[in-house]
Amino acid sequence: MEDSIIEEGRLMAEAFEMKEGTQFNPKVLVTNTVGNVITRFVFGFRFEYGDPVFEKLAEDFELSFESFSITSLGSVFPFLYYTPLYTNFRRPIQDVVSYIKSVVNDHRRSFDPLHLRDVIDLHMAEVKGQRDENKMAAIEEGWEWKFIFELYAAGLATTTDTLRWAILIAAQHPQLVHEVQKEIDDVIGGRSPKFSDQSLMPLTGATMLEITRIRPVVPLGVPRCTSRDAVVQGYHIPKNTTVLMNLWELQTSPKYWKEPDKFNPYRFLSEDHKTIVSHRALNPFGIGLRVCLGEKLARMQLFIIFTSLLQRFTLRLADDSLSVGMEGKAGLAYGPLDYNIVLEKRNV
Ligand code: HEM
Repeated sequence: MEDSIIEEGRLMAEAFEMKEGTQFNPKVLVTNTVGNVITRFVFGFRFEYGDPVFEKLAEDFELSFESFSITSLGSVFPFLYYTPLYTNFRRPIQDVVSYIKSVVNDHRRSFDPLHLRDVIDLHMAEVKGQRDENKMAAIEEGWEWKFIFELYAAGLATTTDTLRWAILIAAQHPQLVHEVQKEIDDVIGGRSPKFSDQSLMPLTGATMLEITRIRPVVPLGVPRCTSRDAVVQGYHIPKNTTVLMNLWELQTSPKYWKEPDKFNPYRFLSEDHKTIVSHRALNPFGIGLRVCLGEKLARMQLFIIFTSLLQRFTLRLADDSLSVGMEGKAGLAYGPLDYNIVLEKRNV
């Protein structure tokens, strides 16, 4: 997957370059880029920038996430999803599911067990192998669309919104960007960034950590349910209770952090600034057995795409967006408000 991310990082930087001299909202290009990493993995192809099929897919996900926010009434009273109040949630989800099923069916028609193209083919080969051996399928046929839907739902908005925070924060902190760019120039130079570069780039790594600390895009984690009665710090929590993790509190409370509202990557660096120092209260991908399944993939994307961008451009906020701050908007992920940027190309 790393090759796909490197390729998408390069293509995104090229698409940004076409915008030089204009002011633009990076959201569409970032969403398309992150979407393509998942799309290549599951479907075996990519969407060109501006492809109306992808634009509709992304819009449908966003619409449904808006109604699916953890702060929405339907999260507390799930039966409401089946009432007219949640038509806006159901219609886009149905459209997404139809599209995914149509691609899965295309794969079924053109399936060749000697030439496996992507995750859908791998799954079909697995089901066929089990059927040939008369075994009960560990993963059922017809299950593919659910798995694909979950990958998009869990991976698209979260990674896109983290990158949108990263770009906003980069535009607000020119001096820090200058130092990160020096590290990029020293370690990577003009070639494409790869994930292993991060081990030689403590300031860039610490900057990524600080971005995920100051704005956790899944601030209340994913709702979980207790499988038995439990007692936590004296509180009795009965079986079958929905529980949330308050990652926001963990990552932004003065109980755990000095000047938590200040964007300061140096808090994650050793005194000599050569090593990354982790912190127990930093858990943007959750905690425990059900920690984010896509953590490694997400970290890889964040590093490669962010460095691909800063390697080639210095960014600033457009005049109409100077007042955009750190206030966000809740959907399934917590992303920044829309903003426009202006690019200046670097000599690399
Ligand atoms: C910056 C990006 C991301 C963040 C901040 C993030 C965060 C999270 C969090 C907080 C959870 C809940 C964990 C828990 O309950 O302890 C979660 C679950 C999950 N994430 Fe992510 N995620 C990101 C990207 C991704 C990506 C790229 C994928 C895959 C394509 C993904 C797939 C999943 C899945 C499948 C789960 C559910 C795991 C389970 O229930 O066992 N995530 N994520």
